[in-house]
Amino acid sequence: MNGFYSIAVALTMSIATMGIATAQTLVSGGNVAAGKIVYLHQCSGCHSNQPHVDRFGPTLAGVYGRMSGTAPLHHYSAAMKAAHILWGADTLDDFLENPRQDIHGTTMPYSGLASATARADIIAYLKSISPQP
Ligand code: HEC
Repeated sequence: MNGFYSIAVALTMSIATMGIATAQTLVSGGNVAAGKIVYLHQCSGCHSNQPHVDRFGPTLAGVYGRMSGTAPLHHYSAAMKAAHILWGADTLDDFLENPRQDIHGTTMPYSGLASATARADIIAYLKSISPQP
């Protein structure tokens, strides 16, 4: 009886640990090539991936590690200028899941990327087109 319980507890704990490990892998271990495809389909209509190219949205080149609302050339909303967010893995993940909920008053007309995997991938891609720390 005792043995059965300890096995059950050990099993439950290892499943819980695996769950945490998987969640971390998704955030930090996105796939750059898959992220480029997300970018081309969902972001490139409004955002360039080249430095100093402004479209309807600011360039995403260099966005990872940049303060929100600071790309030269772009006219941001008052909300984005006031947000003072340092774009990194966590802040981009929150923003891209639901931009208008994350920054009330943003003019980014995009409803959000529901898939955590797609968000991890696009974040890996954004990091790859930004200066490495
Ligand atoms: C329909 C146009 C449109 C689409 C599609 C779009 N964006 Fe945006 N995005 C904007 C605009 C406009 C802004 C500036 C918002 C503001 O000033 O409030 C913005 C701002 C941003 C910012 C903040 C940049 C900064 O310099 O502070 C990030 C990050 C961003 N977008 C990422 C993305 C990603 C990643 C995608 C694709 C998954 C995407 N956007 C899709 C229009 C768009």
